[in-house]
Amino acid sequence: MNSIHVLGISGSLRKSSYNTAILHAASAMLPEGMSLEIYDLSALPLYNADNDGDNIPESVRQFKARVTAADALLFATPEYNYSVSGVLKNAIDWASRPAGKSPLIKKTAAIMGASTGNFGTVRAQMHLRDICVYNNMLVVPQPEVLIMKAKENFDAHGKLTNELSRDLIRKLLVALAELTRRMKSERELAPTTEAAAVRV
Ligand SMILES: Cc1cc2nc3c(=O)[nH]c(=O)nc-3n(C[C@H](O)[C@H](O)[C@H](O)COP(=O)(O)O)c2cc1C
Repeated sequence: MNSIHVLGISGSLRKSSYNTAILHAASAMLPEGMSLEIYDLSALPLYNADNDGDNIPESVRQFKARVTAADALLFATPEYNYSVSGVLKNAIDWASRPAGKSPLIKKTAAIMGASTGNFGTVRAQMHLRDICVYNNMLVVPQPEVLIMKAKENFDAHGKLTNELSRDLIRKLLVALAELTRRMKSERELAPTTEAAAVRV
């Protein structure tokens, strides 16, 4: 079986982040042949087009190299003011350049999220799906992993205790493995396929 290396990206820098915690939960239930590396976004500066291109900051270069090396991405997004966090959007903005040559193009991805509110990041996840569409990424459609009322569903050590949510994460990882393997074999069969969209 072809192995799949996944880059896990949490949109929260908080030490006790529920979203970082669900990436750790995922790493303990990976399907066979999948590895997960959890990336810490805290070193990334705010996006500035003046610093993009040939002289990107070293922390950005390292982040983009990890995105490039990954077969797939696993996002754990908080919901801030009905959308993704600035931290996550900023990281995606860096990774999305240069237009037409970004390491996000044709990358497979899966999305999950945890919030303290009642809707489990559903609004942030819809925005994140749109951002992925713009970047020509392929996102697993289902299952949706929406972890609401986080205070009730994690224990004092930050372990996700809700069995339904744990099962959905397990299923999401299997779906990500399937989509990624399918895309990898299609790329091997038709390596020259290019996106038709014009990007600015
Ligand atoms: C600036 C800010 C905006 C927030 N907006 C929302 C929101 O729109 N919807 C929601 O469910 N929770 C919202 N929350 C609460 C977050 O769900 C909560 O802080 C959560 O713990 C963040 O994820 P983390 O634990 O991974 O840091 C917001 C929190 C902050 C700090």
